[in-house]
Amino acid sequence: MAQIIAVVGLGYVGLPLAVAFGKKQNVIAFDIDNHRIQELKQGIDRTNEVENDDFKGTSLEFTSNPSDLSKANFIIVAVPTPITENKQPNLVPLLKASETIGHNISKGAIVVYESTVYPGATEEECVPVLEKASGLICGEDFFVGYSPERINPGDKEHTFTKITKVVSGQNAEVLEKISSVYGSVVEAGVYKASSIKVAEAAKVIENTQRDLNIALMNELSVIFEKLNIDTSEVLEAAGTKWNFLKFSPGLVGGHCIGVDPYYLTYKAQQVGHHPEVILAGRKTNDNVGNFVATSLVKQMIKKNMPIQGSTITILGFTFKENVPDIRNTRVIDIVKELKDYDINIQITDAYADPSEAHEEYGIDLIPYEELTPADAVVFAVPHEKYLEEGWSMVDHLLKHGRGILIDVKSKLNKEECPANVSLWRL
Ligand SMILES: NC(=O)c1ccc[n+]([C@@H]2O[C@H](COP(=O)([O-])OP(=O)(O)OC[C@H]3O[C@@H](n4cnc5c(N)ncnc54)[C@H](O)[C@@H]3O)[C@@H](O)[C@H]2O)c1
Repeated sequence: MAQIIAVVGLGYVGLPLAVAFGKKQNVIAFDIDNHRIQELKQGIDRTNEVENDDFKGTSLEFTSNPSDLSKANFIIVAVPTPITENKQPNLVPLLKASETIGHNISKGAIVVYESTVYPGATEEECVPVLEKASGLICGEDFFVGYSPERINPGDKEHTFTKITKVVSGQNAEVLEKISSVYGSVVEAGVYKASSIKVAEAAKVIENTQRDLNIALMNELSVIFEKLNIDTSEVLEAAGTKWNFLKFSPGLVGGHCIGVDPYYLTYKAQQVGHHPEVILAGRKTNDNVGNFVATSLVKQMIKKNMPIQGSTITILGFTFKENVPDIRNTRVIDIVKELKDYDINIQITDAYADPSEAHEEYGIDLIPYEELTPADAVVFAVPHEKYLEEGWSMVDHLLKHGRGILIDVKSKLNKEECPANVSLWRL
């Protein structure tokens, strides 16, 4: 039987993989967001992961009609797995997608989940929904697998085909099939995990490990602030040891590193273990925005600058550099804290969509050219465009080129800091 692939959920993860498969064969590319489908049909990807030219030579059938899924026998699921306000896994999109697939699944099909989940979610949560909606039996009438995604938005080097793909399946035969499907497009090759749970756990710990390493750097930054030592200089010195891991302090936002550990901690608690280290890391990272804002206010007080009524510019609002994604941006923590001091805040971002920022956070982004000179600048997100301008930005961003600059990610060369500017960094 000819293999027909469908991808369910065409976001940062789903679209690049649909395009990669679409270069080799016909792919049914399904999303519930019809607006997104209409844009994709015109070759527009507002996530900037896929260029207009990349759509050329692909065979993609963009659709928001669930019944089109019945034509596929290999269905890949890449829908969001966010957390609730109480930091619990929110499996609603995943289960809804499973229900849609269940209603439209063909006998013999394989469903491969790519969404990040806790170990056990595919078999314990998704399979029952697939079975109920389809009236079929998993392992007999259809099959499941799990293959976590490792892409890094905005990173043009580590793209879908260039990262080793971990694959897993509910039995050896399914694993072989999944492995050969992914192997046909992933140049870096596939790694066969021994079970679905192992593959699920591997993904969630990759991001948990990163979160914890950054948390340690953030905690060091708080300690060194009190000791009046520059964290970047300490890290540079320590980094000369062969086995010192190179992480740096910063805001941890987005929908992966700051979210995925909660999937693991939820599952850990379910099985009776309180994960103290992981949760401590999360708490530390969630406090960074607050620390940056209060440190700025302290700097201003030290310099006898008035706080109330002062103007501060926030440069960058997305959750990381060079992407338009503002979901779970922790820059908002800096903004909220500064607003408590009755400071006038103007925020600009080179990539974020102003209407989205307004809708999601009630923030009105200002075009860079329209910023008025400020008392202080928080260089929150080191987008390439700002880095290209470098220190000369302070000439027009700060009143008379003087004031405070907070370089959150320590990206500007400290040695070149103009004399009229006082620099603070994490
Ligand atoms: N973005 C990343 O860097 C990244 C990296 C690795 C893994 N992941 C994981 O991959 C998964 C997807 O993340 P993303 O960033 O691509 O999300 P996204 O929000 O960019 O895209 C998800 C897409 O799924 C669609 N969708 C939602 N519910 C649906 C449904 N029921 N049926 C069909 N489509 C539906 C949405 O409309 C959206 O277009 C998540 O589990 C995430 O944790 C993301």
